[in-house]
Amino acid sequence: MRVPLIAGNWKMHMTRPEARELVRGIKSRLMGKEIRAQVGLAPPFTALETVANEIADTNWILVGQNAFWEEKGAFTGEISFGMLAEVGCKMVILGHSERRHIFGESDQWVGKKVQACLQWGLVPIVCVGETLDERESGLTLKVVERQLEGALGGLEENAAGEFVIAYEPVWAIGTGRTATPEQAQEVQAMVRDWLRRRFSPMRASRTRILYGGSVKPENIRELMECPDIDGALVGGASLDALGFAKIVEEGDRAAREGGK
Ligand code: 13P
Repeated sequence: MRVPLIAGNWKMHMTRPEARELVRGIKSRLMGKEIRAQVGLAPPFTALETVANEIADTNWILVGQNAFWEEKGAFTGEISFGMLAEVGCKMVILGHSERRHIFGESDQWVGKKVQACLQWGLVPIVCVGETLDERESGLTLKVVERQLEGALGGLEENAAGEFVIAYEPVWAIGTGRTATPEQAQEVQAMVRDWLRRRFSPMRASRTRILYGGSVKPENIRELMECPDIDGALVGGASLDALGFAKIVEEGDRAAREGGK
């Protein structure tokens, strides 16, 4: 049984007062409701402590958006996994397409970050996904498999702690163009098969694979109905309290009704 995970990636949005207001808005809509899905919030670094305080009375999870693999040192502008753990993070998004494409992170870098993340006892949310060009050239599965190998291929089954994978097709991020449930399911099933081959059937059946890319209240249900979609990484729509709360509620309901 995989507990659904619905996480909001706030990217470079939200000052501390805005973050406080957003969390309070989400809480006022979700508190007291029976939600089985895990809720994650990934604010920018400057608002992590604010959000940690605001969610202290919930079972929600604080998520970092990125970190560097070294523990400390002369790495101007970087944040370590230890620092994220100390402020209360339990998970860290790694290899997001914006990190790969805007900041030039390679598969090898993502792999080093995943190793450091696990050593700190934090759960990496490893993002993979193809560009539009790659999809149109029929390279989707190849690209995603290469990214999986780079991020997770260095891990031993017995040594690896828990990790989460997020399939985020680059062409669906921030564009309003969501992958169809069939497109998402096809890739997510391949990811699960890769986990089975590379690790074990047990790992494949218990690892959560999220979908990300223009998730909204209107499409979360059909996505969550797919057998290999275990939750969502939500960008733009997570900046709106009502919209994000609806995504959590709808996603949770669809998962329960689907026997997930
Ligand atoms: P959007 O939901 O804005 O498309 O962003 C998705 C994403 O990148 C989540 O990590």
